[in-house]
Amino acid sequence: MQLFENHNLKTYNTFGMEVFARQFLQMEAADEIPTVINDYLKREPYYILGGGSNTLFTKDFDGVVAHPVFGGIEVMERSRDIVLLRVAAGEPWDNLIQYCIRHEYFGIENLTAIPGLVGSAPVQNIGAYGVEVKDTIYKVEGFRISTSEPFELMNAECQFAYRNSIFKQALKNDCIITYVWFQLSIKEHFTLTYQGLANAMAERELPMKLRYVSDCVRKIRDAKLPDPKVVGNGGSFFKNPVISAEEYEELKCQYPDLIAYDAPDGQKKLSAGQLIEKAGWKGKRMGNAGTWKNQALVLVNYGGATPKEVLDVAETIIKDVKNLFGITLEMEINRI
Ligand code: EPU
Repeated sequence: MQLFENHNLKTYNTFGMEVFARQFLQMEAADEIPTVINDYLKREPYYILGGGSNTLFTKDFDGVVAHPVFGGIEVMERSRDIVLLRVAAGEPWDNLIQYCIRHEYFGIENLTAIPGLVGSAPVQNIGAYGVEVKDTIYKVEGFRISTSEPFELMNAECQFAYRNSIFKQALKNDCIITYVWFQLSIKEHFTLTYQGLANAMAERELPMKLRYVSDCVRKIRDAKLPDPKVVGNGGSFFKNPVISAEEYEELKCQYPDLIAYDAPDGQKKLSAGQLIEKAGWKGKRMGNAGTWKNQALVLVNYGGATPKEVLDVAETIIKDVKNLFGITLEMEINRI
């Protein structure tokens, strides 16, 4: 492991917030984690930081930020139909995508170009273009911080739901994920339920190949979402709100073009981006922070924004959406 004092986190969070951690601990192997826990995390406030693509640091962090850098992808089992991969937490997510395309493993190609590390993927159950990572996770390995003991949770035990899991609930602040196991298909299998992706494939008259599906996803993302290397952002800032079918019908009388998708238990999931846009917030700016011109759900740092500027924009959006629709948006991003 490597320890840095008073470490600038600007390049460790995609929002590009210039904040400092009193200590920054780079974890270089899974087997050093019990020592990390006992020697550092037990004594200090701590935060486990993955790729920093879903974290908004609101101030300097007066404690230890622990960040995994150990990567690696291992084939654990292979049958006629499936392959089981064990992937280390510090592996960049998109490296895994590229690996799967090269080896023709099907299942996560729709999640192309999501920023962040593999160890963070189960935490918020990353999802895009009709696929959620929970559909491919076999199990998750890690350590509990309270006991320093290793754990293994099978998919069904991870309590996966829309942008949610046990790692954001009961195990929040009490686990370090070390490895994620994926069960992927060797047989050709695509998910084209997201209309925009199906249309893009059809328009380009591309053969159904992993590489092309992945390229299409990348193109759709590039058109809608800002590249965090160019414009600081943390992806979707809010969750898409889930409301009852009755509430949806009422709102629809007033806003006939309101988009909704079916959610569990007969509920409806609205598009937070559309609500924010209708509240007049698409591509709008307040100081150095604002929303993205092509996707109002993404808050951006237009350059030199302070955490307060970003939070002011978020709070104003919450207020405006509440006034217009009676819906309270919930932040998806972790605020630290
Ligand atoms: N829309 C608007 N205005 C906007 C943004 C969106 O009217 O400013 C409309 C779109 O036209 C579309 C609908 O809202 O009809 C949904 O938009 P989109 O397909 O872009 O998806 P989303 O629901 O806004 C979610 C995820 C994204 C993921 C996309 C694609 C959440 C919180 N966000 O966004 O995930 O990439 O679907 O599947 O669920 C992320 O989590 O960081 C993220 C980017």
